[in-house]
Amino acid sequence: MASVPHIPRAFVAGHPIGHSRSPFIHSTWLDRYAIEGTYQSLDVKGGDFPGLLDSVRRGEWLGGNVTIPHKEAAFRLCARRDEDAEAIGAVNTIWLENGRLVGGNTDAYGFSANLDQHLRGWRDGQRALVLGAGGASRAVLHALLSAGYSRVDVANRTPERAETLEQSFGPRVRAHGWDKADSLVAGADLIVNTTSLGMEGNPPLQLELEGSHVGAMATDIVYAPLETPFLAACIEAGMTTCDGLGMLLHQAVPGFARWFGTKPEVDAALRNAVIADLNR
Ligand code: ATR
Repeated sequence: MASVPHIPRAFVAGHPIGHSRSPFIHSTWLDRYAIEGTYQSLDVKGGDFPGLLDSVRRGEWLGGNVTIPHKEAAFRLCARRDEDAEAIGAVNTIWLENGRLVGGNTDAYGFSANLDQHLRGWRDGQRALVLGAGGASRAVLHALLSAGYSRVDVANRTPERAETLEQSFGPRVRAHGWDKADSLVAGADLIVNTTSLGMEGNPPLQLELEGSHVGAMATDIVYAPLETPFLAACIEAGMTTCDGLGMLLHQAVPGFARWFGTKPEVDAALRNAVIADLNR
């Protein structure tokens, strides 16, 4: 007989998991909307992940978020994936539908919703330059192509990874080596850093921004620090920018809405609370 918990609960599962901000974000919303429920982090190593999914199937959890190193395993093990997860090739949010596990990916939604809130006019762009070709880059490419960008240049230190993205996303995506990045700035309406350069403890992303055109915009998926050296240089070059914290906040919205039945708001109060938590 399946054991159904009295208190509805969801999780974020990963390894390591200590750095995850998701418990703080979801707990803030649970308090704010006076929802009886919990959201907790689970330190789950690779071999234990299928067992966690079994416990979701048994109804012990409403679902959860999945992070490194389980995003690809979650993609394989869910009975069905939503369109975004299929396009991105990874699952970061799971829930149950009629007893079957469904996997979604909310990173592209989070990216777009952040820019919708803070970077007016980004959807009018035609050409984007994306730095980096990892998992985050896949979500950003999906968001940009869905928003109607006609060309997205991807520059990456390891060019083969950019070429893999070109092959999977089709002709609107063009792969380049890192050495081409500076020369692609002039044509870009929007520049996005998806690498870990600029994150606290990492070297900065350095790009020659002088040729950027009037009205060009930039954003970073790094949010610690909030103003990365890259964004500071973009502002100096006269570009309009938006930091990456909102992507983290917005990507949490669809999961919360599915599990707990309320679409939560991403507002200044949440943003300030998360900034204070990051600075603790
Ligand atoms: P994520 O899933 O967060 O995107 P990832 O898959 O490890 O993480 O990708 C990290 C990205 O940052 C990659 O594009 C990586 O370049 P490589 O594919 O060449 O590894 C990029 N990156 C990390 N450190 C870098 C550095 N010092 N210089 C340039 N790019 C770097």
